[in-house]
Amino acid sequence: MRKILIAGNWKMNNDVDESLKLAQELSALSDSFDKNVEVLICPPFTSLYAVKRALHGSVIKVGAQNMHYEDKGAYTGEVSPLMLKGIGIEYVIIGHSERRQYFNETDEIVNKKLKSALRYDIIPILCVGETLEQRESNAERETVKNQIFKAFDGIEPSDAEKITVAYEPIWAIGTGRNATSQQANEMAEFIRSCISELYGSEQADKIVIQYGGSVKPDNAGETLCQPDIDGALVGGASLKADEFLKIINYAK
Ligand code: PGA
Repeated sequence: MRKILIAGNWKMNNDVDESLKLAQELSALSDSFDKNVEVLICPPFTSLYAVKRALHGSVIKVGAQNMHYEDKGAYTGEVSPLMLKGIGIEYVIIGHSERRQYFNETDEIVNKKLKSALRYDIIPILCVGETLEQRESNAERETVKNQIFKAFDGIEPSDAEKITVAYEPIWAIGTGRNATSQQANEMAEFIRSCISELYGSEQADKIVIQYGGSVKPDNAGETLCQPDIDGALVGGASLKADEFLKIINYAK
């Protein structure tokens, strides 16, 4: 059985004090988390170390929102997988649409980052998804398939199954307009079929596929009960402990 992963992507929000407060609020609620649900928070880089320390012994996992693919070197302003590993980071979001859109992250860079994260045993959450224009011209499947094939290029089957995929239609991110549960599940199923094409169905069945894009307490229940959706990548609603908890509680 696949695990359920509910991840909070805090984006560029919360300084260290605010991050610690939110992490501690969540930690205080963690007794009520279902055992089958893995809960992850992804604070900004400046808060990672403090939050990771504060959550020592907690069931809540801590992830980064990005990383460079090199171990070290002259890359001003970048953070390496080695540095993340050094503070015990367990997950990293790779290829978020905001990074692809604002920071020119290409499929080739995403592929390098995935390989690098896997080398350090950091679980990558690979984000894929189409623009509104692509959906309206019926190009959403072609777009996502292309992203998946390029992202997984050269990745061994034993590593491929460790990757979590987040289907995040760009038109649903931060817009309040989430995909219907049917649209989300259809794409999750399609992503699984792409992985199956690459690695076979046994491998594809193991891959955790999340949905992301305006997931809120009032729509999470319907999305999370879909058969091919194994969790959610939550932006805005992960910034308030009570809202995030409601989403976690829907995911059983
Ligand atoms: P949102 O963000 O929930 O605020 O739409 C989701 C994401 O970008 O991961």
